[in-house]
Amino acid sequence: MFQDFANVWTPVAFSAQLRPGRLLRREIAGTALVLFRDAAGVPAALIDRCPHRGVALSLGTLAAGCVRCPFHGWRFDRAGSCVEVPWNPEVERERLGALAVPAQELAGQVWIHTSIGTAAAHPPAVHESLLASGTRLTGIEMTWATHWTRAMENMLDWPHLPFVHRRTIGKDLVHLLGERLDTLIEPHAWGWSVRTALRGQTRPGRLDFRQPNQMNLHIPLSGRTLTLAVACVPVDAHHTRLLLSAARSFARAPLLDAFFNRANRRIALEDRAIVESSDPAEVPPVHAEVSVRTDRATLRFRSYYYSALKGSSINPPSRASAT
Ligand code: FES
Ligand SMILES: [Fe+2]
Repeated sequence: MFQDFANVWTPVAFSAQLRPGRLLRREIAGTALVLFRDAAGVPAALIDRCPHRGVALSLGTLAAGCVRCPFHGWRFDRAGSCVEVPWNPEVERERLGALAVPAQELAGQVWIHTSIGTAAAHPPAVHESLLASGTRLTGIEMTWATHWTRAMENMLDWPHLPFVHRRTIGKDLVHLLGERLDTLIEPHAWGWSVRTALRGQTRPGRLDFRQPNQMNLHIPLSGRTLTLAVACVPVDAHHTRLLLSAARSFARAPLLDAFFNRANRRIALEDRAIVESSDPAEVPPVHAEVSVRTDRATLRFRSYYYSALKGSSINPPSRASAT
């Protein structure tokens, strides 16, 4: 389970998409999950497979904060514990549980940890601008037909801005194309920041990579905050769900959300067909494609992916059957 993406936190949906009383199916790194809110409204996630006969729990219903399987009606709580087996009131339910996955809500998103259990060693981490009380957060999602590593790498890549985004976020770079660009990387516990410099002068604006799959672009505005945040969520080997968020400390009226969402969508659509055309779909190891000095940030991501994630997976606990 969670092939090449095990033991990490990732957002999987915006909070508003996980509606009370409803089940939401999400595939993450080839592993299907059913998400729901328990009786207290807290997000929960189970592997989307009933331990009885293997059907998708997401086809069932939510009953008293628990998932009821569509086939024989067994009910499972947020920890995966079986709390009801119709027709068998005497059964020992301890051995009949489903598999839970750690889940929580943070910065307007529902997050899961790609492991089995109800808690992870560390909580997910986001930039403080996404948590500030005076910040308005809004977001949209989009699915690209590509491996998540190509989408992620595109989010960390400065040199493409004046080409792919020459009418939007790369507009101010077009007239500077004859210059030498330097990429300045600063490591942090959560990943690294990327700034750029021209003629030895550091340019305003900063881009953060937060492991394993988030990019935050901090757009320079005097005294105000505008952060564009993207999570590249692996669906399967050929699909990526992009969660595109904008956090702003100004123009906070909810009516203006549509403007920021449209801007985010427009930028992502400029990238989409180009990134989807990448061959192979998954980024190859560092030396497998030709690279230049300004590829430092993306090469660093490749090193991270191949050393920390590639080859990782979770083995489901084995189960005994009994009557
Ligand atoms: S398959 Fe789920 S209760 Fe039987
Ligand atoms: Fe881009």
